[in-house]
Amino acid sequence: MKQSVKLIVGNWKMNGAAGGLEQARLLAEALKDQPTANQVVLCPPATLLERIGSAVAGSPIQIGAQDCRAEPSGAFTGCVSAELASEAGAAFVILGHSERRAGFSESDELVAAKARAALAAGLTPIICVGETLEQRDAGQAADIVERQVRASVPDQARTAAFAVSYEPVWAIGTGRTPTLDQIAEIHAVVRRVLAERFGSAGETAPILYGGSVNPKNAADILHVEGVGGALVGGASLKADDFLAIIRAA
Ligand code: 13P
Repeated sequence: MKQSVKLIVGNWKMNGAAGGLEQARLLAEALKDQPTANQVVLCPPATLLERIGSAVAGSPIQIGAQDCRAEPSGAFTGCVSAELASEAGAAFVILGHSERRAGFSESDELVAAKARAALAAGLTPIICVGETLEQRDAGQAADIVERQVRASVPDQARTAAFAVSYEPVWAIGTGRTPTLDQIAEIHAVVRRVLAERFGSAGETAPILYGGSVNPKNAADILHVEGVGGALVGGASLKADDFLAIIRAA
């Protein structure tokens, strides 16, 4: 299914301390001057949520967090709940990013619990899935992604806004991307599972692609059948690059 309005999300990861506000302001000004039909979300570190939100106020840019805790509150030193992220201005939250699955041992079950918390707090979860290089080389990419979508996207997504992002681990920050056919194949798998589980809600939820998206490859990737947007890491840190990706969609 072709989606004309694309969801373009910038994941700043643990960056943005120097100059992040200025880049956000530049992006906001450019989008005010020349609006886009696409939906644009910036996900800065939690400490910058409010300030980036203020910096882009009056522009179409929305704000997202990069993670949240599954519990609503409590003795969880260093963590941010979905409600806290929402209070700080987030409308979206990235969940199950491979850097969290690998670095913080996040399971599909934990990602689903976080997604339930996000939905309960009124956030739109962007649930990440994707195979490792070993899994792709072993011919397991489609099976791994299918399993992750089944177990990481909670049943509650049926009645709420959510997105899934296909991010092959080996394409993140490496400059390597799958072929357009490989992207189309995995997106079709995600769509099949979502439609099977959620009916019409599963047929329309955006499915993003993430992993080394840049101004040069964005148009090709964003026009692949089934790709509803992009989750952009490194290239979202510079307003010019991110803008070029937004305009390529
Ligand atoms: P890069 O765009 O830097 O490869 O990062 C992708 C990513 O992990 C987005 O969540």
